This record gives sequence, structure tokens and C-alpha cells, in this order.
Amino acid sequence: MTRFKNLDKLKKVDVLLGLQWGDEGKGKVVDVLTPEYDVIARFQGGPNAGHTLEFDGIKHVLHTIPSGIFHNNKLNVVGNGVVIDPIIFMKEIDALIDMVDNINDRLLLSRKAHLILPTHRLLDAASEQAKGKQKIGSTLKGIGPTYMDKTGRNGLRIGDIETADFKTKYENLRSKHEQILAQFDFEYDLTEMEKEWLLSIEKLKQFSLIDSEHLVNNERKAGKKVLAEGAQGTLLDIDFGSYPFVTSSNTITAGACTGLGVAPNQIGEVYGIFKAYCTRVGSGPFPTELLDEVGERMRKAGHEFGATTGRPRRCGWIDLPALKYAIMINGVTQLIMTKADVLSEFGNIQVCTKYAHKGEEIDYLPFDVLSEDMTPIYEELPGWSEDLTELSSIDSIPASLNNYIEYLENALETPITIVSVGPDRSQTLMRKSEQV
Ligand code: GDP
Ligand code: IMO
Ligand code: MG
Repeated sequence: MTRFKNLDKLKKVDVLLGLQWGDEGKGKVVDVLTPEYDVIARFQGGPNAGHTLEFDGIKHVLHTIPSGIFHNNKLNVVGNGVVIDPIIFMKEIDALIDMVDNINDRLLLSRKAHLILPTHRLLDAASEQAKGKQKIGSTLKGIGPTYMDKTGRNGLRIGDIETADFKTKYENLRSKHEQILAQFDFEYDLTEMEKEWLLSIEKLKQFSLIDSEHLVNNERKAGKKVLAEGAQGTLLDIDFGSYPFVTSSNTITAGACTGLGVAPNQIGEVYGIFKAYCTRVGSGPFPTELLDEVGERMRKAGHEFGATTGRPRRCGWIDLPALKYAIMINGVTQLIMTKADVLSEFGNIQVCTKYAHKGEEIDYLPFDVLSEDMTPIYEELPGWSEDLTELSSIDSIPASLNNYIEYLENALETPITIVSVGPDRSQTLMRKSEQV
């Protein structure tokens, strides 16, 4: 017997996160993996996220609520790293309430999660308008201004709504924001937004507001399995993404530590998810973007329109230097490839293996990724034309898809253990890789 905790014997927290510019299919795959877990926990981002799930012919888009919510008996936690807009949150609840049992017992919100105020949304819009052509292409959900108030130590947190002077705290922050808004050439009317927001705050009080870092660690210590669900993607990370065209949180594995209160040595598997090609919504560099008819066809075939804003997503070929970077930063242990079915109609596949940059060939993302001088160098691989959406086993995939998977595994030095071939829960092929 030892007096010391044997940390190795405790269950670790697994993480699932995006390796590209978001929308890799995180929602779908978290839903597929949920039966293997007891707790699903979102660790960062907010309603800028749109996570789509499909099953039984119904499609759901979640923004704040974790993607494990459709499985009974599973806990879903919105962690301290998330920013919550009570209006959007309550709308999500209203859309779910008839389909989900015991939502009040199964959906838990961290008291330390920050609140998005109506004036945060206005500040986001005013800032984007002032940037003109240089705009980030924000989802305008108030994400940047809310995280700025968090790091600037001015923010309001979910736990504040339980305090007696919440209204005063709110009014003080609102008037700070109004002073800033006055410096922009930006007109607004706060009245209706504020009314709806305050009403939603009242409704939020029916939910379990908890110290989620204790819950997550206690569940883990009790032998329960926890899956941390990321939002956005690594190339949108505030530190390692294509700055300044990024979001305002750490979207990477380290973000799961700070966004849930999980120690780094308690992280287990890291599932890195990527599309068989690549998309981006909003402004910023995208070396493999296809501005031609092929890109247009990808958008159509992949239904590449934003789940949150409906904006068309920019499309292009897969980018291996960017993926290698994302795998390194996140410590990815298993890869998940989605949307393999979309490539069925494209003939041969192009894979970017390097960039021509300043007269040199490089296989990494340079600091000046914003530079126009980044020409992708492609390798061509044989494509496939078979419809993959009806396949039920990885053993029946076309040889050239198998070849593509093995090529990527070798290049990325990481096993691909799940291949998604359609938006539905059932269109998921599990793959035994000899390395796992
Ligand atoms: P997330 O933000 O990472 O959860 O991804 P989104 O939900 O924003 O975007 C992914 C889109 O692709 C959604 O419309 C999904 O329903 C859809 N999707 C997910 N996996 C697949 C797949 O393997 N094939 C196809 N065709 N669609 C998929
Ligand atoms: P999910 O979780 C794709 C992009 C925006 C914009 C930039 C900053 O569904 O993958 P923000 O509103 O965060 O200030 O926007 O980040 N963006 C996303 N793109 N998927 C997302 O989330 C995104 N969340 C933000 O388009 O370029
Ligand atoms: Mg999305």
C-alpha cells in the first residue's frame, strides 16, 4: 500500500479536436463515439461553433451543447473554457427539449464559463465593420470581445448570475462597452437584444451550474470515461493558427487542459479529425484553396456551407504540411478522416506535400503564412468513383481509397482509425490499424 495516488491507474481524458480550419465533422464523430464514454465535455469556443449530427433521418446543429446530448445516461458538460450566449443556449435547448430525456440532469454548465453579452456581439460587428477588407470574417457571435474581457479581467461568468449584484455587474460592463462602441461609426439599438438576454439569463438559472473541474476529475477518478470535444480547428488556434485570421481561444489539446481543469498528464488518446480535402470559412490564408470549377464542385458535392452562418465554405485539396503541424501541436494519437465519399466524383486526387516559398521548397508552415508567395506543390494519387455512402465495412472500400488512407498514414506517421463516408451516424467505418 502506498500513501500516494497511482496516477497511471486512473482513467485519462480523451480529446477529439479539429486539425484544419474547423467543420471537420467533430459533432458527427463525437456522437458516434459517445456510447464508449460517460461524460462529454466541451472545452473552448462558443456559439461560433456549429456541430452537425444526423441520425434517423433528422439533422441537428449544436452550438454550445456538447455532441453527446442525444445519448441517454451520458453527462454533457460545458467547461470553463467555453463562452456562452444565454440567448443562443436557450434556443438550442428549446430545439432539443422534446427529443432528449432529463436534459436538466444531464447538461451541466461550468460556473467559470464566461458570458457573452449583447454588447459583445455589437463590439464584434463594429470591429469587423471598421476593419473593412481586412476583416477576420468572424461569425459575429461576440467571441473575440468576450475572450478579450476574460483575459482583460473584466468578464462576467455564469456563476455571477447567482450573485445578488449581478444586474449591477452587468450594467457596469455594458456601460464600458457602450463607451467603446461610441468610438466606432456604428449604429445600434440594444433594447430588444437586452430584453431577450435578461430573460434568457433567468431561464439559465434552472440548469445545474457547477464547478466542472471537480466533476470532470471526480468522474475520471471514479473510473468513468471522459471525452473532451473541441470546437473550431488547430489552424484557427489563437497561438498556432493563421494569426490574425483565427478565433480567440486555444483550440488545441492544451485548451482541453485549461478549458476543463484537466492536468496535462491526464490526457489519454487525442483524436485528430480532418476532411479528406480541406475547407475554410471566413478570411485568411488557405494555400491549397481552389478558386476554380473544381473548388465549386467540392462545395456542391460536400454541401460546404457554414452550419452557423450559412456562408459558403472555401474548398481545396488536402494540405499535409499543415496537417503535420497540427498533429505535432496536439500530440494526436489517432486520426479520423471524414467526407471520403465527397471525393468519389473527382477523378485523381491532389495532395499538397510541400510549398514553394521565397524560391525554396518547404514542408512546414512558415511564419509569414499570410504571404501571397505560397504555392502548393502537389503529388497526384489515383481517385475512386464508387459511391461510398452505403458501405458498412472498411473491408469493402475501393483499393484506391485504401491506398489514399495508407499514403496519409505513412506521410503523417499516425494511424487512421475511423473513416466517415456520409453525414449519418451509421455512415462510419471503423478501421483496425496495425499500430493501434
Ligand atoms: P463540425 O463543426 O466539425 O462538427 O462540422 P460541421 O457540422 O460544421 O460540418 C461538417 C458537415 O459535414 C456537416 O454538414 C456534417 O453533417 C457533414 N459530414 C460529416 N461527416 C461527413 C462525411 O463523412 N461525409 C459527408 N458527405 N458529410 C459529412
Ligand atoms: P466549428 O466548431 C469553422 C472562423 C470564422 C472566422 C474565424 C473567427 O463548427 O468547427 P470568430 O467568430 O470565432 O471570431 O471567427 O474563425 N470560425 C469557424 N470556422 N468552424 C468553426 O467552428 C468556426 N468558428 C469560428 O469563420 O474565420
Ligand atoms: Mg462546424
